[in-house]
Amino acid sequence: MPGVPPHGTGEPTGGRPLRTGRSRTRRRVLKTAGGLLGAGVLVGGAYAVNFAVVYNGRKQSNVGKLKFANAVHIPRLLEGRTDGAGRLFELKARAGTTELLPGKQTPTWGVNGSFLGPTLRARRGEKVRIAYDNRLPEATTLHWHGMHLPATMDGGPHQMVQPGAVWKPYWTIEQPASTLWYHPHPHEETADHVTRGIAGMFILDDEKEIEERTGLPRDYGVDDIPLIVQDRTFNDDGTMEMRGASTLESFAGVGGLGVLGDTILVNGTYDPHLKVTSTLVRLRLMNASNARVYNFGFTDDREFHLVAQENGLLERPVPLRRLQLAAAERAEIVVRFEPGHKTVLRSFEPDLGIGFPTARMDGGQDTFDIIELRAAQRLSKSEPLPGRLRDAPPAIEVPGDAKVRKFRMSGTQINGKDMEMTRVDVVAAARAVELWDVTASGDGMHTLHVHGLAFNVVRYKGKRPPAHLRGAKDTVHVPAGETVRLAVAMPRYVNADFPYMFHCHVLKHEDRGMMGQFTVVRPGTEADAPRTVSAHH
Ligand code: C2O
Ligand code: CU
Ligand code: CU
Repeated sequence: MPGVPPHGTGEPTGGRPLRTGRSRTRRRVLKTAGGLLGAGVLVGGAYAVNFAVVYNGRKQSNVGKLKFANAVHIPRLLEGRTDGAGRLFELKARAGTTELLPGKQTPTWGVNGSFLGPTLRARRGEKVRIAYDNRLPEATTLHWHGMHLPATMDGGPHQMVQPGAVWKPYWTIEQPASTLWYHPHPHEETADHVTRGIAGMFILDDEKEIEERTGLPRDYGVDDIPLIVQDRTFNDDGTMEMRGASTLESFAGVGGLGVLGDTILVNGTYDPHLKVTSTLVRLRLMNASNARVYNFGFTDDREFHLVAQENGLLERPVPLRRLQLAAAERAEIVVRFEPGHKTVLRSFEPDLGIGFPTARMDGGQDTFDIIELRAAQRLSKSEPLPGRLRDAPPAIEVPGDAKVRKFRMSGTQINGKDMEMTRVDVVAAARAVELWDVTASGDGMHTLHVHGLAFNVVRYKGKRPPAHLRGAKDTVHVPAGETVRLAVAMPRYVNADFPYMFHCHVLKHEDRGMMGQFTVVRPGTEADAPRTVSAHH
């Protein structure tokens, strides 16, 4: 970018100075050495002592330690400016400091603020334009997770925005109502940029008449509440822990998930509560953590209704008492309240599908209180929960001759390969429905996310998926040693030279190379499509 200042001019720079990229080669050597050493030292005596220390320190819980002292921050709803050319959202990313913990200043990054970003909201059929002004001290991107849009607008690793530059993507909303999000996606730096605080929610609505007919709570911040759940670990000086597992843990091949924080933030609020003012509340749960899996439920074990997966409404509400969400998954739930009652949203021990000792290292025995919900003495009466969410998108229809692809997630690779910016891993026909069989090796937990589209889970652990995994998704947890079959509905936007990403949403895995690229081409031209793309666009 010519003529662009190297630093975010005129803004506080609580971040770190510009730095030159890390050596990829060094990382690869470390990874290999780690594997070998890990295998060797697991049986070694001195190591076993150290391992016990690390291991015992790993079970984490805040249950009983919170006072729910702070009203949860509701991110500002940015509706943007509308004119003939559509709806324009102006976003500015910058570094700053935020008092996340009482009395401590934490260096953070944020969008239109110092930590996290506003909620964006747009309606089906609308044209959306974004002006993303990067005042951060380094290059970044902004990706629209779950959005169906052309690859050139997707904000993946090919769309770096230099410091001082403004990126202006635009597209038309052509998908059903859903709870999406945005976050940076720079090659090998996603965990870093997301941890510092760049993330926010993007709500899509159906056409107005449809929204009104559906009858779900929809008054943002009143009975329709965003809950962005993140875990962080804070150092004594207020800074956030960025590295995660120690070298020792990486060598053992365990705890390799990056930061599994001991402190929960909801919309950036520590120790939060929410005042409930209506009999039904819709909670848009978003797991914006780097790796942690939450198993949500309430401390009084009350039933709640799942109404939407991350890429859209379900056909009908599904009653549940527990709902597990892996990193980057979202869900909309509706909870009923009686006047004056209180309950706590808690994350119970998640089922990671992995055995001892890895499950414990990966948070499989952790429990966290997330937020207390306090119903007022007088509640306004909500419309009854509809029995059918009428405008749920129909299931993706799989033709008999659908192409079947196999993906094996192991270590931090997919099908034995590291991400390569110039390699196209999959060429697919526009609007084709494909079957993706995604297998996780036995040694770790992974979460697959595919850009630019929705998929249905058609087999989960060898069975028809449970009701709460049906519906339109864009991210799915793949339990260790299991295969998940997805019906993937390819985007309609054709571009043989510009790829979409698919990857593990454990951000450390993604950064280490657990990502591949797919292009979408005109049906019938797959065989002639280029298998390489330019690394820089
Ligand atoms: Cu949530 Cu490739 O991203
Ligand atoms: Cu995405
Ligand atoms: Cu992974």
